[in-house]
Amino acid sequence: MLQNSKYLNKKKVFDLIHDDYHYAKVLNSFGIDFYKHYDENLNDLCVSKGISFGKLLGYRNSLHESNSLAHEYLKSSPINLVIEFLKDNHNYFIKNKLPYLHNLINNLNDNNQTNFSKDLKFIFPIFFEDFVEHIYEEENYFFKYIYELFNAEQGRVNTTSLIFMMKSFSINKILNDHINEDSEMAGIRGITKNYSYKNIQDLHLKVIFQELKEFDEELSVHSYIENKILFPKAFKLEKKVSKILDNIAFHN
Ligand SMILES: [Fe+2]
Ligand SMILES: [Fe+2]
Repeated sequence: MLQNSKYLNKKKVFDLIHDDYHYAKVLNSFGIDFYKHYDENLNDLCVSKGISFGKLLGYRNSLHESNSLAHEYLKSSPINLVIEFLKDNHNYFIKNKLPYLHNLINNLNDNNQTNFSKDLKFIFPIFFEDFVEHIYEEENYFFKYIYELFNAEQGRVNTTSLIFMMKSFSINKILNDHINEDSEMAGIRGITKNYSYKNIQDLHLKVIFQELKEFDEELSVHSYIENKILFPKAFKLEKKVSKILDNIAFHN
């Protein structure tokens, strides 16, 4: 929820983040750990850290612009643009979102009464590693294969490598694996009881639950684009390129 800036700069960091957890991320981007400054007001914090209050607000306003337009646009975009969009998403997850979450979880106090801290510190690095592997496989095998098909359709056919790839790849199998891998977040969802933070008193932990929930939602959108936009396009493209290869074989 965006708030009036006059009122905002007088607010204590604790209240600010209690009302809008995104400010924790904003402060983190300016090198500030929110949980070390609960009692300071935002204006004093900006002055002591030499940060422009306007820039901070600007960054908050730029977060989470609607993605629904992007989906509509992607449905009618060529497949290479869909891949570039997904790679941008991967980059954001790996270089921005997940390191931020990792840092928040690592710095969580162990002495709250629940086991959340211990459990999250255990499960999150495992999830992170699996997730990086998932992305690595997508970009280095599946996306590369699609690019090879795309180039062939554009007339840049490398017949030998293409035939080899088409024999070793099955888009159907990749799609099935992909749908099943959607459970990667299941462990974290289970531990956090579906990110239910209503009864959590500790603000640091509450921010983590909210960020995890948001990440899970972003991941669902990402998977939707892969399963419902990229895969159908890849199936069509593969069929088209099979025909091109049949034609080349026929004329040789
Ligand atoms: Fe992906
Ligand atoms: Fe994926």
